[in-house]
Amino acid sequence: MASLGVNIDHVATVRQARRTVEPDPVWAAAAAELGGADAITVHLREDRRHIQDRDLDVLRRTVQVKLNLECAVAPEMIGIACRVRPDLVTLVPERREEVTTEGGLDVLSHRDTVAAAITRLQEAGIGVSLFIDPCPRQIDAAVSLGAHAVELHTGGYANATEAEDRQIRLVELARAGHMTRQAGLELAAGHGLTYRNVVPVARLEGMGELNIGHSIVARSIFVGLTEAVREMKRLICG
Ligand code: PXP
Repeated sequence: MASLGVNIDHVATVRQARRTVEPDPVWAAAAAELGGADAITVHLREDRRHIQDRDLDVLRRTVQVKLNLECAVAPEMIGIACRVRPDLVTLVPERREEVTTEGGLDVLSHRDTVAAAITRLQEAGIGVSLFIDPCPRQIDAAVSLGAHAVELHTGGYANATEAEDRQIRLVELARAGHMTRQAGLELAAGHGLTYRNVVPVARLEGMGELNIGHSIVARSIFVGLTEAVREMKRLICG
């Protein structure tokens, strides 16, 4: 059964809209844990648009479940990760002009940079996951670089508007997931998953963890974060 990593970035987005102290993502992490979150995920972006360095430091000391840090392969970010020592680092692509992470990390084109980041993190004793598109060549590259896990980008599936296209994207995810598991890597998935589209992805063979942020935080405005997490867990486990 898949587990749930709750991405709390957008709690910090609301706080940063006023550059104030509330809502605090540290409180959000505790509320998400109460709702059954198996992991807390944060993306410390180079532009610090939502999560701040202070958040990461406090979360490291307070989160009781797995702490997953998403970050770019930039040396500054890898240095922060090595100092803070989250349970897992997920390497993601990052462009300042994007609204959210668009597309997976191109491990083939940035092989040397990704390899250097993986080496530094592994030497610090931190497991590394690569956020990549469900594409066989990217999975091969992730395997050859010794990544511990792969997180498949589900944006193509989530954004598909026609049922046929959505099904094609789901089969693509299933094949990529199978390939990842065959190679002995842990399997995760995320991006654009919602209460409406999560079930088929949660049911994919070998699915280890789903990382979900925006949809849960959006629902939390109306039902509270603990309840929003509980409802997502029920769907994933159902
Ligand atoms: N996984 C990764 C690697 C991401 O970068 C993001 C977005 O920050 C997510 C999962 C969560 O995406 P969403 O907010 O669309 O649920």
